[in-house]
Amino acid sequence: MKWWQDAVFYQIYPRSFGAAKTLDGTGDLTGITCRLDYLSDLGIDALWICPVFQSPQVDHGYDVSDYRAIDPIFGSLRDLDDLVAQAHLRGIKVVLDVVPSHTSNQHEWFENAINHGPGSAARHRYLFLDGTEPPTDVQSSFGGSAWTRVTEADGSAGQWYFHMHDAHQPDLNWAEPSVLEDFEGIYAFWLDRGIDGFRIDVADHLTKDVSRNDVATGKELLEHGSKSRTHEVLRSLRTLADSYPRDIALVGEVGAEGPELELYVRPDELPMVFNFPFMHAGWNAERLRQTINDALRLRELTGVTPTWVTDSHDEPRSPSRYSSDRRRGARRARAMALVLLSLPGVPFIYQGQELGLPNVDDIPEELLQDPIWERSGHTNRGRDGCRVPLPWSGNAPAFGFFGAQVRPSSPRRRTAKPWLPQPPWFADYAVSAQLENDDSNLALFARLLALRREHVGLRRGTLTWLESTNEVLAFERQCDSDVISVIVNLSDHDVPLPPGEIVARSWSGPDADGKLAPDSAVWIRPAALDRSPAVAKT
Ligand code: GLC
Repeated sequence: MKWWQDAVFYQIYPRSFGAAKTLDGTGDLTGITCRLDYLSDLGIDALWICPVFQSPQVDHGYDVSDYRAIDPIFGSLRDLDDLVAQAHLRGIKVVLDVVPSHTSNQHEWFENAINHGPGSAARHRYLFLDGTEPPTDVQSSFGGSAWTRVTEADGSAGQWYFHMHDAHQPDLNWAEPSVLEDFEGIYAFWLDRGIDGFRIDVADHLTKDVSRNDVATGKELLEHGSKSRTHEVLRSLRTLADSYPRDIALVGEVGAEGPELELYVRPDELPMVFNFPFMHAGWNAERLRQTINDALRLRELTGVTPTWVTDSHDEPRSPSRYSSDRRRGARRARAMALVLLSLPGVPFIYQGQELGLPNVDDIPEELLQDPIWERSGHTNRGRDGCRVPLPWSGNAPAFGFFGAQVRPSSPRRRTAKPWLPQPPWFADYAVSAQLENDDSNLALFARLLALRREHVGLRRGTLTWLESTNEVLAFERQCDSDVISVIVNLSDHDVPLPPGEIVARSWSGPDADGKLAPDSAVWIRPAALDRSPAVAKT
């Protein structure tokens, strides 16, 4: 079995995780290194670090201007090497996030495309078309037209380039073989530095026929078919990863679903993709059961590893999605942790999820930073609400976000402001407070992760559905004599619990007393002599 096939990944959004050396508002690489003991105590196996490459930061790093350099706001190559070495010392792997579908408009490749003019080889590496108007009506996924016109070297109004996202993120032309050659070099550069794998940003967005005007959005232009060059490219990257003597993790961000998705998740292509249907199933037993079954069926069909994800830097935080009532949302998110960490395959935890952070929905409009806010003409507030810098200490300025390596008495450290404002109620969620409390969200995650390590059934066992009513999720994980039943009550009434020893429960307070309250979940070691029926019908 490869190391990543049952690993627990923790996603770091470096702008918002923690700062060590810098006081300019964003987190940095050393801020991650300084907090590795926290992650190690939490019990995760691997980090996925969102892009830290050189970037004008229009889309906060997803607009790369040099794939081989670290952006100074995050530190240096040395800081990254140090982070990787320190993580490895603690048995934690490090996966980087490479963005192959588009670059920054400040990338040298794009600057050459502009300078060398229409018809040049440099321009052919991007998606340019002629016209006096935008060549098609296709909309960018951040809002507004997917086309922007350039000014040619002689000052005349020139060609249009296609951008699926912001205008500062021109899409590359993956039909041009030199683009793949360049990316093979970039992937090898990082693998040679000891990185353990990659998250491939919008992996299904590589090839598209941008001259089509019969669709409304860029996403509909994507070519998923088995002959599409995207598959060829992903297979080449896979071959490159397989040429290293150690196991390299590859996880793709793929929006395709159903039979189209099956074309990507294959042993010779992407061994893992993010499970977005699971994320979007919300607090709904039927949809969750369906998405779990779909992922397991795909594993059977192709041998790939299922992933489980409820939160990321692109989605409102799950407690706020599960209910508009903050207490209920919190209870449900705790219960979902017992689902996330007990399914076969690879769970992803997004920074702050272990703290139970709700989304911050009231950032003042003038402080919103996500390019979606501007591009949507101020109709979509974007993703800032799940990206607010983490609270480390309830009492410290900026909740301890800054200056792990700056003297606490430094006046600048006391007045530094994070790039997005933290609401006062973040104090209740601070790491320092949660470490003191055995019932905290953080304590729950640490307990579940420790149990997952202890129980081979939870990591590698089979999954069998147990008899239950529609609004209850009940399944058993088993490997030899190690058996754990997972029972989640998504209904609005108590349900009876089967006999057995409760090894983990989602709520704090009184014991279960034979019943499972709404919005809660348990892990049970079934009573040896009476293992069925596991959940009585109500
Ligand atoms: C991916 C990233 C998202 C980014 C987009 C464009 O979807 O997760 O944050 O904005 O790609 O690069």
